[in-house]
Amino acid sequence: MRTTVGIIGGGPAGLLLARLLDRAGIDCVVLERRTREYVERRQRAGMLEQGTVHALREAGAAERLDAEGLVHQGIELRFDRERHHIDLPALTGGRTVTIYAQTEIVKDLVALQLADGPPLLFGAEVFAVERPESEAPVVRFLRQGREETLICDWVAGCDGFHGISRDAFPAGAGRSYAHEYPYSWLGVLAQVPPSCEELIYARGERGFALHSMRSPSVSRLYLQVPNGTDAGDWPDERIWDELDARFAIDADWTLNRGPITAKSVTVMRSHVHEPMRHGRLLLAGDAAHIVPPTGAKGLNLAVSDVRVLARALTDVCLSGDAQLLDSYSELCLKRVWQATRFSDDMTKMLHTQPNGDAFDHRMQLARLRRITASRHAAAELAANYAGLPLPL
Ligand code: APR
Ligand code: PHB
Repeated sequence: MRTTVGIIGGGPAGLLLARLLDRAGIDCVVLERRTREYVERRQRAGMLEQGTVHALREAGAAERLDAEGLVHQGIELRFDRERHHIDLPALTGGRTVTIYAQTEIVKDLVALQLADGPPLLFGAEVFAVERPESEAPVVRFLRQGREETLICDWVAGCDGFHGISRDAFPAGAGRSYAHEYPYSWLGVLAQVPPSCEELIYARGERGFALHSMRSPSVSRLYLQVPNGTDAGDWPDERIWDELDARFAIDADWTLNRGPITAKSVTVMRSHVHEPMRHGRLLLAGDAAHIVPPTGAKGLNLAVSDVRVLARALTDVCLSGDAQLLDSYSELCLKRVWQATRFSDDMTKMLHTQPNGDAFDHRMQLARLRRITASRHAAAELAANYAGLPLPL
């Protein structure tokens, strides 16, 4: 097989890139190692910046998002048994965020691509990217037990944090910056209407908790847990009791309980690979960088990379203009580092350190108090949360 752009990975990054390239008239093939059912069921975050919503609209993939997405005007910070509203539009010159699950974005993009888009092969596991420095890199993959080859002009590594694209950079051609946090998140999906209109980020002595949602009838909740936690050790009652304790405030408020339909533990890490390009191999999304989910930046960063990459590949393929492609990595990494910093700040401000002392505690509270006392400090949080300017 031969194609102009070989795309490894059918997550949001790979699928959106395929859609944008197809609309620009550039042929591509997406290779995804999992099944369609698997990628459509995988639970991930769901907070979209305005730029992300705009990019999905531009790609003609926002029909259901526009009908079902929940537009939020703010978030709530909870600490010391108090609640504080962060008014995003008032602090950012009118910006809002939209709650729409990543799994739904994936379903929408898969349906569009299977209907009339470029080839999307499920069960296609890439095991090598060869000669990325050459004019015709080769992608090798296994499908239905057979080894197959895709010869490309360009290869987009959109295969997430556990993918193989990063490994195709020769030794010395790149460098990773990594940080692991000493706690994880236990995430649950519950068939119960959300207990609040906005997302709640709660810091307490028992640890961090987040209340999010998927729809008017489905809540998504998270608890900070120690690394190595087994979700099996958390029966539903224990989860609800712990959430109740962490969200407790002095005002009147009740956490709605309901059947829990999914539980999983996610480790928290930051990882940035520089540069995002080697020869004709380009990384995008989680393949190049991941952030802890406290800032809700992972999906938004993947989408902002892909917008630049689609434009850069279109320029080079249609008119031979490589200027944007040559600055792809630098352009994206500036925003990536800012999102990494913001995610790290939010994470450290809201989680309890396993060995934290009383001083750490006080510092976290002082940071939170500053945000709720100073419009300037709140505006800084809001600008980052709603999304810093896009590279293009
Ligand atoms: N061959 C083919 N496909 C692969 C391979 C491989 N060797 N390795 C991984 N994949 C696929 C995975 O199965 C997955 O479907 O690549 C896809 C990568 O998708 P994501 O992990 O969703 O990454 P990305 O598209 O960059 O989306 C970023 O995902 O993790 C969240 O917080 C993150 O929301 C952000 C978003
Ligand atoms: C989610 O809805 O899953 C979600 C929202 C905000 C976050 C993380 C996860 O910061």
